[in-house]
Amino acid sequence: MNEIYSAAPSRYNEDVMSYERCGKSGVLLPRLSLGFWHNFGSVDPFERSREITRYAFDHGIVHWDFANNYGPRYGSAEETLGRLMDLDFRPYRDELFISTKAGFDMWQGPYGNWGSRKYLMASLDQSLQRMHLDYVDLFYSHRYDPETPLEETLQALVDIVRSGKALYVGISNWPLHATRVAYDYLQKHDVHLLIYQGKLNMLSREPQDEGILDFCAEKGVGFISFSPLAQGLLTDRYLPKEQTQDYQIPADSRMAKGKFLKESMLTPELLNKLRGWNDEALGKGQSLAEYALRWVLQQRGVTSVLVGASSVSQLEKNCLCIK
Ligand SMILES: NC(=O)c1ccc[n+]([C@@H]2O[C@H](COP(=O)([O-])OP(=O)(O)OC[C@H]3O[C@@H](n4cnc5c(N)ncnc54)[C@H](OP(=O)(O)O)[C@@H]3O)[C@@H](O)[C@H]2O)c1
Repeated sequence: MNEIYSAAPSRYNEDVMSYERCGKSGVLLPRLSLGFWHNFGSVDPFERSREITRYAFDHGIVHWDFANNYGPRYGSAEETLGRLMDLDFRPYRDELFISTKAGFDMWQGPYGNWGSRKYLMASLDQSLQRMHLDYVDLFYSHRYDPETPLEETLQALVDIVRSGKALYVGISNWPLHATRVAYDYLQKHDVHLLIYQGKLNMLSREPQDEGILDFCAEKGVGFISFSPLAQGLLTDRYLPKEQTQDYQIPADSRMAKGKFLKESMLTPELLNKLRGWNDEALGKGQSLAEYALRWVLQQRGVTSVLVGASSVSQLEKNCLCIK
């Protein structure tokens, strides 16, 4: 794929992608955003990553989400973006909304994990180098750290905004009580909490049950759902093609890799639920994936869904949810 990339002129057409305001802010996010947790690492074919990102950009999916340790190898998804920026997307930098995070394990020793100022500051500098960017649009604290004073983590986020290395900040996987503290602290320091990133899908509804979504809606904080397809469970990936089987595990699927999705999750109860939802989806002329994404997008306070894709055709099917 050596030809010079020229983005599709139709990429912002209304029938291609729609955009939603991210809480009380000036930022509009595409309702479908692209996550780089899997499929963009050093173990993955670069040309496939390139095809997926070109397809995404050509279809108005302009928000791309990273973390320092996405890969595998840790850091390599960000390196893939660095190559893609150099090859295809540099002319379009101002059309992209790029996020990254720090909070989980990244490097050895006491300064490569959790929520210290030391870790967050150093990690963002490393991310920018790998991504070949001067700044990210959004930087997240990737998880709540019960041992670091919240003020230390939050002041680091304030200072990151002041430094210009990130334009906005967000938090991910923080409990409600700490989310309240984060919102207030940042607000007092003239930084608005742009967005909360949490796992919301038809099988995992904690952000709703715990009141995170209501809090975000009340305070004007955006909400983006990660793993909206439950890593592929809420698609037809594992549903059997033949009636004699209970399920299938395609050789190229995330479950076949066995690290983050395990075969033991496919219990009779779960398979019953999936079959029921699949029938409802087909009854509406939708795929289960489309049905599951539409469900998330309909929940109060949800700005965008952050999908993963291992092929262009998956992303293409998922785009149907915004039509
Ligand atoms: N903040 C956090 O702690 C956190 C945690 C997890 C994820 N995230 C973010 O959320 C993003 C998305 O997470 P995720 O990858 O778990 O999301 P997901 O959308 O729930 O799952 C994506 C996987 O589902 C399968 N899939 C997607 N579309 C499909 C379709 N139409 N038909 C059949 N299968 C389909 C593919 O699996 P196969 O590989 O099997 O093809 C794909 O890799 C991540 O990349 C990351 O940016 C954040």
